[in-house]
Amino acid sequence: MDLRPPADAIAITGFMGTGKTTVARIVAERLGLDVVDTDELIEANAGTPIPAIFAADGEEYFRDLESAALAQALGRGRAVISTGGGMLLRPSNLEALRRAGPIVCLTASPDAIMRRVGADDSRPLLQVADPAGRIAELLAERQHAYAQADAHVDSTELPAEQVAAEVLGLLADDPRARWLTGARTTIPVTLPDARYAITVGAGVLDEVGALCPPRERGVRAALVTTDRIAALLADGTMAALRACGWEPHPMVVPDGEASKSLVVLGELYEQMAAAGLDRGSTVFALGGGVVGDLAGFAAATWMRGIDLIHLPTTLLAQVDSSIGGKTAIDLSGGKNLVGAFHQPVAVVGDVGTLTTLPPEELRSGLGEIIKHACCFDGAMFEFLERRAGTGLVDDPPALEYLVSRNCQIKAGVVEQDPHEHGVRAVLNYGHTVGHALERAAAGWSLRHGEVVGTGIVAESRLAAWLGVSDEETALRQERLVAAWGLPTCVSGIDEDAALAALARDKKIVSGRLRLPLVPEVGSFRIVEDVSIDLVRRAVRSVLAQGRRQDARR
Ligand SMILES: NC(=O)c1ccc[n+]([C@@H]2O[C@H](COP(=O)([O-])OP(=O)(O)OC[C@H]3O[C@@H](n4cnc5c(N)ncnc54)[C@H](O)[C@@H]3O)[C@@H](O)[C@H]2O)c1
Repeated sequence: MDLRPPADAIAITGFMGTGKTTVARIVAERLGLDVVDTDELIEANAGTPIPAIFAADGEEYFRDLESAALAQALGRGRAVISTGGGMLLRPSNLEALRRAGPIVCLTASPDAIMRRVGADDSRPLLQVADPAGRIAELLAERQHAYAQADAHVDSTELPAEQVAAEVLGLLADDPRARWLTGARTTIPVTLPDARYAITVGAGVLDEVGALCPPRERGVRAALVTTDRIAALLADGTMAALRACGWEPHPMVVPDGEASKSLVVLGELYEQMAAAGLDRGSTVFALGGGVVGDLAGFAAATWMRGIDLIHLPTTLLAQVDSSIGGKTAIDLSGGKNLVGAFHQPVAVVGDVGTLTTLPPEELRSGLGEIIKHACCFDGAMFEFLERRAGTGLVDDPPALEYLVSRNCQIKAGVVEQDPHEHGVRAVLNYGHTVGHALERAAAGWSLRHGEVVGTGIVAESRLAAWLGVSDEETALRQERLVAAWGLPTCVSGIDEDAALAALARDKKIVSGRLRLPLVPEVGSFRIVEDVSIDLVRRAVRSVLAQGRRQDARR
């Protein structure tokens, strides 16, 4: 499935009398967007009706005003833009609209157009002796421009409501407009021993029961969550599951990383036993990566493995930890030391749940998103550059796009390498340095996504030192990390501790390691045989930058 950044505008264009203005209003209303009519904008700017502009200054001058009005409309934020019938005649207008989003052209037969506007004296181009002949002439002249639109809807026989419904149907299938129509995204994951679907959308948690695979083996279930998440989401999720015949038992663990422990796992097993969970039961993990890892490991080990359904509620869990089948708990000796690969039977990611997520948790998820953009998707990288500093949670289409596209990227890598023997190493971009910093920070006080951001900065520099990329590619990544409020350097971490933590990296063999690096934004290369000395230099560079930053404060 082709998933691209959300459109900034949807253009409704076409010849006069095809119903552009009315249809654009209906489409905008259905999508909850503003509508901008460029002809109205021209008249408002000029303070004169269009026929008077034509009469006084001619068509070429009007076309200049039209281009200016288009630039103004595109600068107003996401909207449906209803254009004048000649808008596409100028290639620069066509290009600007194309960059912004899909262009839908309404058409109608010459007879229908004649019936609708032939006698309209506000149409300057039709003030001739033979308006029908003029319509035919103009249609022929403009045919080439209208053919450039992405989609066409014939309004000859249809009322405006129906034309709008057809336009909305086309938009739901468009890779850039689908996010505006509320269309949910289903990403299939096919592994040698498992198949499941990731469903992403706003409000999908309310339909969780229907989105789960058929309950062939039993209806009893554990709904594992934390106290904090339970207060926000457990009641609704329990009700949605019950409505579809599940018998969910809420199992609440304390919030935070400390719950990924043998003690909490033991308590969870006791609750599962008390609820009578058997081999046909299902574990639902409602929460962030902590719940996913803990409940996932419980599901992987309960009666040698029962069904697991992830209901991720943090950005990090939606774009990363719920996909791929890794489950784990921590020991005092380190994070994720005890674990298992256990693929879920479904993942339901409701982007609506992210509206209550604290900003620092949202930023943490963005670390992994930036990593995916660096390695896989230049268009997503550019989207993140454009959108830097804006509130994502206020923009459901942007969130739906980011979550869906990142699920698709991670699922694609996992499909190629389910057990992390090869290409999945690319997902470690930014993580070699990131993990060393994370381990060196006392008590894991840094958020995972934050250290990934710093790791990306360090490893992008390393790529430039090696000549794998140029300096600008490294700087672009650093600017993006900074633009989303993630740290580009760290302070308060002891250099010796960071280097000692780096030395414990399992990837190091005889002082060298394999690293995924980014030659150009949107692509990656696994570079063999990187000297650990160079990685040390990368770690030192972000620590030194942190010290300089502290000194300036
Ligand atoms: N299995 C994997 O492949 C994988 C990958 C990456 C990270 N992880 C693990 O994930 C964990 C980190 O996950 P995380 O960042 O999601 O942390 P988390 O699960 O601790 O959640 C962060 C905080 O957000 C709160 N929260 C969750 N959903 C919320 C919502 N909708 N509204 C308001 N608050 C909400 C939680 O209560 C918690 O306080 C780590 O343990 C890490 O090891 C696992």
